[in-house]
Amino acid sequence: MKYLGIENLIVSNASGGVNSNFDVGDIMLINDHINMMPEHPLRGENDDRFGDRFVDMHEPYDLKMLAKMESIAKKNKIKIHKGVYLALQGPTFETPAEYRMVRIIGADAVGMSTVPEVIVAKHMKMKCLGISIITDLGIEGHIEEVSHKAVQNAAKLAEKGVCKLVEEFVFQN
Ligand code: HPA
Repeated sequence: MKYLGIENLIVSNASGGVNSNFDVGDIMLINDHINMMPEHPLRGENDDRFGDRFVDMHEPYDLKMLAKMESIAKKNKIKIHKGVYLALQGPTFETPAEYRMVRIIGADAVGMSTVPEVIVAKHMKMKCLGISIITDLGIEGHIEEVSHKAVQNAAKLAEKGVCKLVEEFVFQN
């Protein structure tokens, strides 16, 4: 994608909210992440055509893209949160103790994707914007059975808002 001319990447995911201010169907703009996946997408011999061996991650999610998205949300009165996304491998959803751990170590949402894509994009010095849709809650007292179907249904709650955000983001110079 980068060598076909793509400079900016927008990634999205469904995730479990562990911040007690979050509700199902909320949108969270990712401002940082914690990588807890057991493998690393850059493991193995580095291909210097794509980027350096050791990759800077001081600003994984581009602050200018984030600010632009925040102002689009404000203008359209779309409620958003900002927060940290933590990636676990899955495919199991978290146990209550795992959700608690995710919160304690500094995340607001947890999921099974996004971080490898962002790492690879940062390796190539692409700018990234990440959007999490909170599809279930990993908050004590609010933890319920989760299924893929329930996640897909909950994601629909955010569909209109996310589409509006991305559309305006792409078409606004
Ligand atoms: N945990 C991990 N991945 C997810 C979740 C979750 O609670 N919800 C949607 N994807």
